[in-house]
Amino acid sequence: MTIRLGDIAPDFTAETTEGTIHFHEWLGSSWGVLFSHPKDFTPVCTTELGTVARLTPEFDRRNVKVIGLSVDPLDAHGRWAADIAETQGHAPNFPMIADADRKVSDLYGMIHPNASDTMTVRSVFVIGPDKKLKLSLTYPASTGRNFEEILRVIDSLQLTAKFSVATPSDWKNGEDVIIVPSVSDEAAKEKFPGGWKTLKPYLRIVPQPRSS
Ligand code: BEZ
Repeated sequence: MTIRLGDIAPDFTAETTEGTIHFHEWLGSSWGVLFSHPKDFTPVCTTELGTVARLTPEFDRRNVKVIGLSVDPLDAHGRWAADIAETQGHAPNFPMIADADRKVSDLYGMIHPNASDTMTVRSVFVIGPDKKLKLSLTYPASTGRNFEEILRVIDSLQLTAKFSVATPSDWKNGEDVIIVPSVSDEAAKEKFPGGWKTLKPYLRIVPQPRSS
């Protein structure tokens, strides 16, 4: 199955390291990150899960619930957690789905048979509070992901959901942003009373708006 941006993220019930989870109910009104890794007890995955555990306070601060997944059974997730704590200094502190029957993997298209027909690829799905898919990305097994980048994208998604702006290349939270083309100069005067810089009629730079 292919899930595209703007689609409702498919709901499911799954066994996890923190008990049975009904996905939409578990998300509640939070943002969500669902990510898969290829296999427990593998080196790159070990570093990734340690990184996500270390960054948990950053996900919390953004009201994002994180959930991992692989096709390994629950007992393997449990045993592997000790290795992650030992080698990465952070034990997984978020639920991990044990998707041995591939129910969720198939639902989200996480198995790419021409890459591997036994393991999930490194998928990331960012889901908004409306349960719609806001971002998806896919990395191969050989390349660990940059989870700071996921946080950066979430900052952009949360900002652009609130204000009529888009974020430029390599933008980081706090830096200037772009007024979206659908906002006329007339409307922009009301939305951005502090003014903006016009580099081209379609490229208008404004300080990042702040929530009051
Ligand atoms: C790893 O996490 O290191 C890994 C997992 C599956 C295939 C290759 C590498």
